[in-house]
Amino acid sequence: MSDGAYSTAYERSLDDPEGFWSEAAQAIEWSTPPTRVLDGDHPPFYRWFRGGRLNTCFNALDRHVRDGRGDQAAIIHDSPVTGTTQTITYASLLDQVSRFAGALASLGVSKGDRVVVYLPMIPEAVVAMLACARIGAVHSVVFGGFAPAELAARIEDAEPTVVLAASCGIEPGRVVEYKPMLDAALDRSTHKPESVIVLQREQCHAAVGERDTDWEELDWAELVADAEPADCVDVEATDPLYILYTSGTTGRPKGIVRDNGGHAVALRWSMGNIFGIGPGDVWFTASDVGWVVGHSYIVYAPLLTGATSVLYEGKPVGTPDASAFWRVVSEHRVTAMFTAPTAYRAIKRDDPDGRLMAAYDLSTLQTVFLAGERLDPDTHAWATERLGVPVVDNWWQTETGWPIASNLRGLQPMPIKPGSASVPVPGYAVRVLSPTGQEVPAGEEGAICLRLPMPPGTLPTLWNDDERYVASYLSAYDGYYLTGDGGMIDEDGYLFVMGRTDDVLNVAGHRLSTGSIEAALAGHPDVAECAVIGVADDLKGQVPRGLVVLKAGVDAAAHGDRLRAELVQRVRDEVGAVASLRQVDVVAALPKTRSGKILRKTMREIADGKTPTIPGTIEDASVFEALGPVLRPAR
Ligand code: COA
Ligand code: AMP
Repeated sequence: MSDGAYSTAYERSLDDPEGFWSEAAQAIEWSTPPTRVLDGDHPPFYRWFRGGRLNTCFNALDRHVRDGRGDQAAIIHDSPVTGTTQTITYASLLDQVSRFAGALASLGVSKGDRVVVYLPMIPEAVVAMLACARIGAVHSVVFGGFAPAELAARIEDAEPTVVLAASCGIEPGRVVEYKPMLDAALDRSTHKPESVIVLQREQCHAAVGERDTDWEELDWAELVADAEPADCVDVEATDPLYILYTSGTTGRPKGIVRDNGGHAVALRWSMGNIFGIGPGDVWFTASDVGWVVGHSYIVYAPLLTGATSVLYEGKPVGTPDASAFWRVVSEHRVTAMFTAPTAYRAIKRDDPDGRLMAAYDLSTLQTVFLAGERLDPDTHAWATERLGVPVVDNWWQTETGWPIASNLRGLQPMPIKPGSASVPVPGYAVRVLSPTGQEVPAGEEGAICLRLPMPPGTLPTLWNDDERYVASYLSAYDGYYLTGDGGMIDEDGYLFVMGRTDDVLNVAGHRLSTGSIEAALAGHPDVAECAVIGVADDLKGQVPRGLVVLKAGVDAAAHGDRLRAELVQRVRDEVGAVASLRQVDVVAALPKTRSGKILRKTMREIADGKTPTIPGTIEDASVFEALGPVLRPAR
């Protein structure tokens, strides 16, 4: 890779970031071009495209309609859970978004106000996000699989003027009512919105306006029927487009801020250069709008590009079977798809020989992109062999908003090495550092860090919390952003990401916090203390396991089964079923250091059958002897 388009672009992006990104910025329409490409006056805070003014919704919709794409499909909503498919053209999406933006404006929502969006995978989720962008409001989408405690934490922090919700989401075989969860979340939150807008779905009718509340409860359809369309409001490139909360190790989620200018430029660049997708192509990302993959690659990047995005309300398996993705690809003539490795592991489990693929014409499919968790070489080999197209691992996080490492299919396709997310993407100075901050030699593992400044589109800070931004990400190594992942770079410059070095969980590509699950367990009246660890799982990559110490006097022998069931249920009710906590064990004591820190990593190693690293600072090593039999048999 010493020559070619990739290395030219990569070197330039680091040697001359301003030149590189100002060229990329030309793909975006600005009402006022930026006066400064990179503002580094206040390190470690960096801002891109200072002085520039634009509207993200204009770039995603209006400009395409103006330029003749009005009749092209913007969104194809394919919903096996409701048995419907709906195509929405750019012109129609623009119309819906403008009217919903008008409805929000009529409620007093204006530039900078926050709007929490608690919607499943339906077109209205896209409409809501773009409507906020249109009037300069800041959306914060909460994944529908999260239960009241998680939703409440986000409402508390984002302080929204308006909350949008649907009456329900639909999981295979079950309707998930959203309104009771929202009501419970609002009861918990000290912040109350001014209005709650509820979209009624035919699968379930939510009670609206039937309670005495401090906020107004409104019906989505009635509100939109009376709405006047709203025009785009120009914002500063550095103004926030959205806040997306992500899990850290504590129970308090981090509000990742995304700006308007850098985000639009980076995502548009990524679509062509990383994913090889251009205007008019059909692109299918099977994720959820509640995750960053959904924000970036279901909604913003494809629409900024003028492509068609498939919005899929279903699962890889069970809706109705492991052929679901292949049906979508062949019915909608998909050029490339993106999902999490777990989804492919589920398909492989149900249809190991790929027999169900044979019934579908997959000839349009050129590439499969997988991200969100480690792509194991077995799954990679299976998908590559069965589909006969490149299967491209790419590594990134909510914080960055777009890939840090990938095989750049548009810029310069490279050989693929299973187990590696390929090479650093232009803009990202990826370094693997030792505990003392030295770069480790090729092939050696360390902490994966990004030298500052990071490229456009990455988080400028955390919502209302510059201090936590610095403490969480920038304080471990001066001048570097700490990704929280460990890994290595090989002799060819390929990056291998091995997993989190902190206690963040990754369950089926969903990022969850040990802290939130522990808070739910600790809330049980019989629990004295608890720990949650993520253990290896063949399907989901990782699943949480809970270990609880009961209060003195609680008889575990008599009540153990009931307690375990109650604890599992508590986590479903507080965090959400998506946490996938199935196993909770009652133990006599938890292993701790002398300063009281619970040794989760060591317990994880035991549960995964690895040789545990027992630190010298352990308070009482005999605790591990008692824990060994509890942790090991679960495998
Ligand atoms: N709303 C409500 N509940 C939800 C939900 C949502 N949006 N998403 C998941 N859940 C529930 C599920 O119904 C399930 O409930 P159950 O315990 O009652 O069965 C639970 O949360 C766990 O869900 P999930 O992790 O989806 O596991 P699963 O066993 O139902 O399915 C897979 C396994 C692999 C099919 C599924 O995890 C999957 O599709 N993964 C892809 C991951 C992905 O898209 N990640 C996004 C990042 S790119
Ligand atoms: P999220 O912020 O939810 O996207 O989760 C980000 C985390 O998921 C990263 O820090 C990694 O731990 C993990 N992750 C994402 N993509 C990959 C990948 N391609 N390989 C390994 N881990 C990944």
